[in-house]
Amino acid sequence: MAAPFPHHLFVTLSIILSVLACSIVMSHAQLSPNFYAKTCPNLQAIVLSAMKQAVTKEPRMGASILRLFFHDCFVNGCDGSILLDDTSTFTGEKSAGPNQNSARGFDVIDSIKSNVEAACNATVSCADILALAARDGVVQLGGPSWTVGLGRRDARTASQSAANNQIPSPFSDLSTLTSRFAAKGLNARDLTALSGAHTIGQAQCQFFRNRVYNETNIDANFATSRKANCPSAGGNANLSPLETLTPARFDNNYYRDLVAKRGLLHSDQVLFNGGTQDGLVRSYSANSVSFFSDFAAAMVKMGNISPLTGTSGEIRKNCRVVN
Ligand code: HEM
Ligand SMILES: *[C@@H]1O[C@H](CO)[C@@H](O)[C@H](O)[C@H]1NC(C)=O
Ligand SMILES: *[C@@H]1O[C@H](CO)[C@@H](O)[C@H](O)[C@H]1NC(C)=O
Repeated sequence: MAAPFPHHLFVTLSIILSVLACSIVMSHAQLSPNFYAKTCPNLQAIVLSAMKQAVTKEPRMGASILRLFFHDCFVNGCDGSILLDDTSTFTGEKSAGPNQNSARGFDVIDSIKSNVEAACNATVSCADILALAARDGVVQLGGPSWTVGLGRRDARTASQSAANNQIPSPFSDLSTLTSRFAAKGLNARDLTALSGAHTIGQAQCQFFRNRVYNETNIDANFATSRKANCPSAGGNANLSPLETLTPARFDNNYYRDLVAKRGLLHSDQVLFNGGTQDGLVRSYSANSVSFFSDFAAAMVKMGNISPLTGTSGEIRKNCRVVN
């Protein structure tokens, strides 16, 4: 029998609905490139000048900072959580599997932060500094530019387990990579474009050993050359460039490598191994303009992953510690 719809239930329901609607709006809160136009007008120039210096000193730093941003955004959103040191109340992301003895560039972010604080204290988040620095590093190495939305705030905590569970592994297959990216609102095209970040930077032997010793979809000369600096046992931390042709330039040669079966990581070569992404890889390998434009668009999308905005989180004074 149809009971009359009780009024209190209706009220409760509308409250739940409006809270829900509000939280949906919050999670899509718009970042704005002009967020600090009045409060920190020199922000972009300060970050750019520090990144120019850092990348001139060590080109790999552009790669390292780009990866930091990826690892920040994939763990509870782009909230600067990766920058937090471990404390007695939480174990942070720096010591998670994908970051420990691997993520680098924290000193560069610290030094940019102190320059920014000197110009406009207690105003700009570490999360926004990282987003700008990642873009500037890519540009320094010859890659595309994009407009960085700003207004992210910094997390007051960090999660080692989220970092372990949400950052994709280099041993993943295409289906796992696709679902890890989908969980962040990024589609397969974004995955393939963003993986082009591996046109710069380096990887440790432990992450490509199995690929060069055991896999068959690999160019034989390439495998031999990589084995020379990656013994079948030991030498775990020995480095190899992720891309063979122009490893310190941000270009589309990563995709030429994939087409030639010279992907260094298993997770690289799965993008060109008879699966759904082959056509796109081939097209990026032939057309750097389309790669650059898709990469830039996907970076903006990645940079929008659930930012803390408004009064959530805080503006950290020191990127390594909660205020
Ligand atoms: C698709 C899933 C991905 C996996 C499984 C993956 C995995 C890895 C691994 C294992 C390394 C080497 C780390 C080391 O040896 O210490 C690495 C390096 C790097 N990754 Fe990825 N990555 C992925 C996607 C991305 C994305 C989306 C970006 C940025 C947009 C990115 C940027 C980089 C960069 C620039 C480096 C070199 C860092 C350096 O030289 O310091 N990666 N990645
Ligand atoms: C910012 O700097 C001003 C002047 O140097 C100082 O008085 C103020 O306490 C600082 N604010 C914060 C939040 O650190
Ligand atoms: C090659 O694969 C076998 C079987 O999975 C494994 O035991 C071995 O450790 C692998 N070799 C290398 C060098 O990774």
